[in-house]
Amino acid sequence: MKILVTGGAGFIGSCFIRHILNTYPDYKVINLDALTYAGNIENLNDVKDNKNYTFIHGNICDRKLVPDIVSEADCIINFAAESHVDRSITGPEIFIETNVSGT
Ligand SMILES: NC(=O)c1ccc[n+]([C@@H]2O[C@H](COP(=O)([O-])OP(=O)(O)OC[C@H]3O[C@@H](n4cnc5c(N)ncnc54)[C@H](O)[C@@H]3O)[C@@H](O)[C@H]2O)c1
Repeated sequence: MKILVTGGAGFIGSCFIRHILNTYPDYKVINLDALTYAGNIENLNDVKDNKNYTFIHGNICDRKLVPDIVSEADCIINFAAESHVDRSITGPEIFIETNVSGT
């Protein structure tokens, strides 16, 4: 099983990736994350050298990049999002771009 996790450097995504790699030693995980202000790749320092883990620095809105990655995966778990509600009041555009168009 090869799982594409988007937003894997965030709060929930990083916990999910750690759980999958530690629980299912045969599963492979690709983490696609744009590393916005909310993403912290250091959340995954403990698994970064795992042979079943690959990190791709990219955006789910990138129509050139995403199809190739998706074609490799058996399933997609999408955590990539603008998740801070307060920021949607001052700048809603990026929420529509990522959470609607990107998804
Ligand atoms: N944290 C919670 O308590 C909670 C509860 C219920 C639902 N959720 C939902 O779960 C999802 C993840 O939440 P979280 O708390 O982990 O968020 P988070 O803000 O901690 O992480 C979001 C991740 O997505 C990445 N990202 C943002 N835009 C991207 C893009 N365009 N392309 C690729 N990566 C991008 C960021 O770099 C970051 O790593 C969100 O949809 C959120 O609404 C969260």
